[in-house]
Amino acid sequence: MSRTTMIRPVNPQPARSTMPWGRLRVILLVALLVGLGFPASLLAAPPSAPANFAVTIEGGFVVFSWEASPEADVASYQLNFSGAASGLLDVGKRTSFSYVPPPTLGGGFRFSIAAVTSAGEASPPSNEVSFSFPADLPRFVGAEACARCHEQKVNDWRVSGHPYKLMPAREARNRPIPLPAGFTWDDISYVIGGYKWKARFMGLDGFIITRTGADRDVPGKNQYNLENNTWSDYEPGVQKPYDCGSCHTTGFSEILNQDGRPGIKGTWVSGGITCENCHGAGSRHAASGDPTAITKDSSATLCGRCHTRGAADSIPASGGFIRHQEQNNEFQASPHANAGLQCVTCHDPHKKAVFSITRTCESCHSQQAQDFTGSAMQRLGVRCQNCHMPKAMKSAIKVKDYVGDVQSHLVRINPEVTAQMFTADGLQANNAITLEFACLSCHADRDKEWAALNVQGIHALGKESTAMAR
Ligand code: HEC
Ligand code: HEC
Ligand code: HEC
Ligand code: HEC
Ligand code: HEC
Ligand code: HEC
Ligand code: HEC
Ligand code: HEC
Repeated sequence: MSRTTMIRPVNPQPARSTMPWGRLRVILLVALLVGLGFPASLLAAPPSAPANFAVTIEGGFVVFSWEASPEADVASYQLNFSGAASGLLDVGKRTSFSYVPPPTLGGGFRFSIAAVTSAGEASPPSNEVSFSFPADLPRFVGAEACARCHEQKVNDWRVSGHPYKLMPAREARNRPIPLPAGFTWDDISYVIGGYKWKARFMGLDGFIITRTGADRDVPGKNQYNLENNTWSDYEPGVQKPYDCGSCHTTGFSEILNQDGRPGIKGTWVSGGITCENCHGAGSRHAASGDPTAITKDSSATLCGRCHTRGAADSIPASGGFIRHQEQNNEFQASPHANAGLQCVTCHDPHKKAVFSITRTCESCHSQQAQDFTGSAMQRLGVRCQNCHMPKAMKSAIKVKDYVGDVQSHLVRINPEVTAQMFTADGLQANNAITLEFACLSCHADRDKEWAALNVQGIHALGKESTAMAR
């Protein structure tokens, strides 16, 4: 999987129009609107030049940043570049972007940035930066290059979910993933997911497929659910660009379109979460084995880059479940974050979840573990996680009442019968598991009142043998 995109002009028109008619049209439009009572100051002036434009290097990325022009009608920014190649590149409405340059880009580039209004009027250029792409910029070399010295890590990672997050069709077609009705593998560019919960599909144009059936005109039935082999509706009928690359790919840049497919926002070096997503571009380290030439970040912030939905201090919910992709939102609301644990305190980040647990609950909560050992539920195979980490989150399907398909990391159980899992509008979760979720997944024939009556001394429930031994 090598990148095929390069910095190149996507907008062949020069920044400032050389056609007097274009400018005249704008003046006439302004005159008309002023005549209609619009304040002239809002319409006439071109935006001011973006300030403090800078080009810096961060790992394998070249980072362009600037300050927003204050005018309200700025619609996007345009990078002006000259050197071995030259042109203009619309980079959208943002104030920074990172870019993984192809190895061939060399020295002698000059960059500046301009703000452009929705009417196409450009500001004067920012300060100009002279820049050479360094020959020794760390490169993304792929997991194969790590396997030579870290074979076990690569083998563990290969059977975990991270590498499979975004698969080109030529790889995905070898996995047991069915296609939506009306499509063959030749119609698919990428499969999104399809490892643990669900798969979605991208057409050759890079848009997510949202219409299916023989004539590909029926909205929905476009998400395949692995757990029960059903199809459900994801954004049925919507023209849905793939703007998900920041969490699903490695060496991601916000600009341009991968493989030139218009529906894909951004470009990447490889699909999926590879070693170098978490450890940074690894060419220098892989060449030398020097541990100081690679990064290792053991904080929950690293995982939270992707396992967070929206702001980490809220827990978005919908349809009676916490939404998926929120492990870090939940973790931050749990007693474990307060106590200074990180994700990797419990998880080996290279392993599939079920094989990844390096610290068990019992290893830290010895009192509860001792109480629980020999209890009725423990003897029948109930585990700490069944009550403390129930599937209160939903990714693909609701299994039944109070059972989604992703385990929660809130951990604390509120034993009150009046406790509410969600805010009144149902759009946020509170910060503890309630008894419906902790107990009724197994005790489906009971209710919350029953659970609340039985919660006292729950860990040691039915522990006759020890009681007699005392
Ligand atoms: C030529 C052998 C070699 C290759 C290839 C190699 N490494 Fe290493 N790596 C080492 C050695 C030696 C160490 C230090 C001992 C250890 O921690 O295993 C190390 C340590 C590390 C560490 C820990 C650094 C720290 O701060 O403790 C990380 C992370 C790492 N490697 C990642 C990678 C990744 C990712 C790749 C592929 C891009 C890679 N390595 C390729 C030899 C190699
Ligand atoms: C902020 C990071 C982030 C963004 C943005 C994001 N995802 Fe994800 N996605 C995740 C994480 C983390 C998971 C796995 C954890 C979970 O679902 O609880 C996931 C899981 C998935 C899965 C299930 C994978 C499987 O193997 O079952 C699919 C499908 C998916 N995402 C599709 C999308 C689509 C489509 C978009 C864009 C419209 C998107 N995601 C945007 C982080 C993200
Ligand atoms: C999802 C993020 C992530 C991915 C993907 C990942 N690592 Fe790591 N890696 C980490 C974290 C976090 C640590 C530190 C773990 C800790 O502190 O317990 C680490 C530690 C390491 C270490 C140091 C030894 C150790 O176990 O602490 C090596 C070597 C390493 N990783 C190599 C790799 C290789 C090779 C790959 C690809 C096959 C890879 N990693 C993929 C997050 C990741
Ligand atoms: C670049 C984004 C990203 C980062 C960083 C990241 N993850 Fe993930 N993670 C994902 C996505 C996306 C999925 C869903 C993959 C799939 O199932 O297709 C996932 C799935 C998982 C899974 C479940 C899949 C499995 O293999 O069983 C675990 C566990 C996990 N991540 C733990 C971690 C931990 C721990 C860290 C930090 C060390 C981390 N992740 C960092 C994006 C990320
Ligand atoms: C590395 C040690 C560690 C591991 C592993 C761990 N915990 Fe904790 N846990 C703590 C600490 C520290 C606290 C906060 C102090 C306290 O209340 O004991 C805590 C708090 C809690 C609380 C809230 C306690 C209260 O008084 O409200 C619950 C419930 C809990 N943990 C359950 C679990 C479960 C279930 C697991 C396994 C999935 C687990 N813990 C794994 C260290 C750990
Ligand atoms: C059958 C469900 C269930 C199982 C299994 C279970 N717990 Fe609990 N646990 C609870 C409930 C309910 C509470 C809340 C009790 C309260 O606040 O009165 C609780 C409370 C806790 C607390 C908070 C402090 C306390 O003792 O009240 C910790 C820590 C804890 N459990 C750890 C564990 C560990 C570790 C395991 C596995 C060895 C485990 N639990 C197994 C239901 C369970
Ligand atoms: C106290 C220990 C603990 C901490 C801290 C922790 N996890 Fe987990 N996590 C678990 C356990 C236990 C499981 C269940 C593993 C299994 O499938 O048996 C799990 C499962 C997961 C899963 C898979 C969920 C599913 O239902 O398939 C993901 C994803 C995940 N953790 C991500 C994270 C991330 C990201 C963080 C940090 C924000 C984190 N975890 C912190 C213990 C922990
Ligand atoms: C993973 C499944 C599971 C979960 C979750 C679970 N239980 Fe149980 N529970 C069992 C099994 C299995 C038994 C033993 C068989 C039986 O008697 O139904 C049992 C037995 C009991 C009993 C004694 C027998 C009875 O039905 O009166 C009580 C009381 C009980 N559980 C309460 C709870 C409470 C309260 C919770 C939540 C805090 C809970 N359980 C969560 C599986 C579970």
